[in-house]
Amino acid sequence: MRVLVTGGAGYIGSHLVDALIKRGDEVLVFDNLSTGRIENVRHLLGLPAFHFINDSILNEALLERFIPSMDLIFHLAAAVGVRNILHDPLAAINTNVRGTEVVLGLAFKYWKRLVLASSSEIYGKASHVPFREDDDRVLGSTGVARWSYSMSKAIDEHFALAYAVKGLPISIVRYFNSYGPRLDERGYGSVVANFIRQALRGDPITVHGDGKQTRCFTYIEDTVAGTPGRRGEGGRRRGLQHRQHQRNEHPGAGEDHQAPRPVQIARAVQSLRGLLRRGVRGHAAPSAVGGQGQTPPRLHSPGGS
Ligand SMILES: NC(=O)c1ccc[n+]([C@@H]2O[C@H](COP(=O)([O-])OP(=O)(O)OC[C@H]3O[C@@H](n4cnc5c(N)ncnc54)[C@H](O)[C@@H]3O)[C@@H](O)[C@H]2O)c1
Repeated sequence: MRVLVTGGAGYIGSHLVDALIKRGDEVLVFDNLSTGRIENVRHLLGLPAFHFINDSILNEALLERFIPSMDLIFHLAAAVGVRNILHDPLAAINTNVRGTEVVLGLAFKYWKRLVLASSSEIYGKASHVPFREDDDRVLGSTGVARWSYSMSKAIDEHFALAYAVKGLPISIVRYFNSYGPRLDERGYGSVVANFIRQALRGDPITVHGDGKQTRCFTYIEDTVAGTPGRRGEGGRRRGLQHRQHQRNEHPGAGEDHQAPRPVQIARAVQSLRGLLRRGVRGHAAPSAVGGQGQTPPRLHSPGGS
């Protein structure tokens, strides 16, 4: 199967690409390396089944040269990470809304099955767990730039649903904070990368707020395993399929898409203490999304960051 992975040099994308190459697919990665890294896919460079284009998904003409020959598209390219969203909200919205519009439009034009990466951030401040796919969304003010990420992913989902109504085979996957090798401290789930880096250096671990805030975490193997289309059903399924998944805490239970179970940040620090078998000091810091014109982030967020 010929597969296009936008954002394939990113954290999740590169692990997905590894899995696709392993199952025998020919993979084209389309990535502008804005947050992705060539190191993530360096081990694949030179393989006949691996191709890499360093460009933006906003370059519609270039994308259109490749999409007709694809069997399946994974659309993961996005402006990700609170810092990026706050640094340049306009560019982030443009990538996440216009970029997805371009990719979906071409998938529709050439009738290609597509898997869209959405986010647990869709749920916003909702604190009622477990989440359901059709739960209401609870968002903050438009004066707080971070909510534009949730909004942009929601628009992406609406776009995808609109194309699904026209019969295009589309799946939406809502990832919950993924962690594992290649995780970038500046990106999603960065709290895990930061904790580990600080713990290994013997630095105090920074806990924003009171540590009672919660998150759901997914190990990268489960993130990839829970991605629809990864098992080669490309083109066969019609309609829409939402998936929420997280790491199943029961050993041996394998790929099991259960309701997310939140973990308190303060407890994560305690676990780290146990794992490292040495003193890990925590220190309190102001909320992570402060700054001018910003209000503090929600405390109880069972979803993503
Ligand atoms: N990591 C998580 O826990 C998580 C949670 C929820 C949703 N997601 C979604 O999963 C996807 C992958 O996230 P990730 O954590 O791997 O982040 P990432 O930053 O590592 O990956 C995003 C990739 O998209 C690329 N990109 C950004 N703008 C682009 C553009 N205009 N053209 C081409 N490529 C572009 C980046 O260079 C990067 O390689 C994203 O859509 C993200 O919103 C991730």
